[in-house]
Amino acid sequence: VIEELRGIVGAAHVLTGADAVARYVRDWTGRFTGATPAVVRPADTAEVAAVLALCARDGTPVVPQGGNTGLVGGSVPLHGEVVLSLERLRAVGPVDPAAAQLTAGAGATLADVQAAAAGAGLLYPVDLSARGSATVGGMVATNAGGLHVVRYGDTRGRLAGYEAVLADGTVLRHLAGLEKDNTGYDLGALLCGSEGTLGVVTAARLRLVARPRHRVTALLAFSSVAAAAGAVAELRQVESLTAAELMVREGVALVRDRFGVAPPFAELHPAYLLVEAAAGHDPVDELAAAADRAEPDDVAVADSPDARAALWEVRERHTEAVNLLGPPVKLDVTLPHARLAAFLEAVGTTVEASCPGARTWLFGHAADGNVHVNVTGCAPAGDDAVTAAVLELVAEQGGSISAEHGIGTVKRAYLHLVRTPAEIATFRRLKSALDPQAILNPHVLLP
Ligand code: FAD
Ligand code: MLT
Ligand code: ZN
Repeated sequence: VIEELRGIVGAAHVLTGADAVARYVRDWTGRFTGATPAVVRPADTAEVAAVLALCARDGTPVVPQGGNTGLVGGSVPLHGEVVLSLERLRAVGPVDPAAAQLTAGAGATLADVQAAAAGAGLLYPVDLSARGSATVGGMVATNAGGLHVVRYGDTRGRLAGYEAVLADGTVLRHLAGLEKDNTGYDLGALLCGSEGTLGVVTAARLRLVARPRHRVTALLAFSSVAAAAGAVAELRQVESLTAAELMVREGVALVRDRFGVAPPFAELHPAYLLVEAAAGHDPVDELAAAADRAEPDDVAVADSPDARAALWEVRERHTEAVNLLGPPVKLDVTLPHARLAAFLEAVGTTVEASCPGARTWLFGHAADGNVHVNVTGCAPAGDDAVTAAVLELVAEQGGSISAEHGIGTVKRAYLHLVRTPAEIATFRRLKSALDPQAILNPHVLLP
């Protein structure tokens, strides 16, 4: 098979040595490391189709991979699969200004797409701190969310068309990007959140938005995590709100100690909301009025691009800071808005009970009810106990066990907490219809 793969993509693009494959078999966190007979790097959709047709003929399992920034063990070959890297499908087409859309290859990074949109005076509004590496294909496959979902939605909402290759090499293409198009099943939407189990995304037609002329960013400090969570309802009333990001004292102190960036206040506060509003008019008054009603203990308004970037850096470097303590258990959950404060208060105790001595780090997209619960200091044997305890708490509260990172390999066993047996059976029927030999990411998503 490896010899035939060389025939399809060229010998230089079938990597086999341990050094050559190292960065493709280990995930971003360092928690998941696998092994592979080969990393295959096709140049275009036709080569992807030929690779998959060959793997299907031979029954060779494949892990599709983009930027390998996924956080749930879904992008690396933990069972000896071939890695199908889309990184060479990196073209970003011209912006269509009339439609406010562009078509990007699966391997284009989020930063590539954002730059192309900005070059045409527009904005691609999905944003996340892995923007330099996360790819269009990976973002579709995980339905990536990020920092501005409250205003602009997730990747699914931005997808106006798609191109993908099925497990048997069949190419599906629907890239016209018509705004209204009720012609049957929305296969592009089906690929969103499919985590490489139903097809390999090769290109996406993405919706852009007008670039707001005015933006205001502020940091609100609160006397308790519950007070910060309680303030979110007030802030969500602001029509121009584009972000309300939660941070707590421990995480902010960690980022400060590791990277020397800190909030512009004399002392640390128990909790913070990093808020941003953007509009065609100056949104400062409406944001200030909502912030007043939210009754923070202190407020810092960023009045320059540098000051804004400094506030965002404190929030965005949480992932990296926590990871430096050793690969954490990363749980990524959504709570109903009304339960967010109670969950934030309870989850540390839940973690402590299931893994004594572990530390809990909380941050996330509070505007979406989305909390990133990271746990460090738990022996690997305790990881499952912590995962089970936190995800069960979330499910009891009516939340979701994955807000944005997906199920991957690590949360498969918990899918039943939030999906009914009938739904999981339907997932399986879809999987076997599109990938009857189960060669596409066979160890991901489905229990
Ligand atoms: P990969 O990690 O390569 O793959 C992820 C999954 O998609 C795997 O299951 C893989 O098999 C599948 N896949 C990849 N490419 C394809 C393809 N072309 N076709 C089919 N399947 C494919 N996520 C958020 O949602 N919000 C955040 O705010 C956020 N912030 C992050 C910050 C940091 C610092 C890091 C490291 C990660 C963050 N993530 C976030 C997670 C991650 O960036 C996203 O899940 C992203 O969408 C993954 O893209 P990728 O190209 O790296 O995909
Ligand atoms: C974030 O919001 O920072 C990301 O989803 C990454 C993480 O959860 O660490
Ligand atoms: Zn996130």
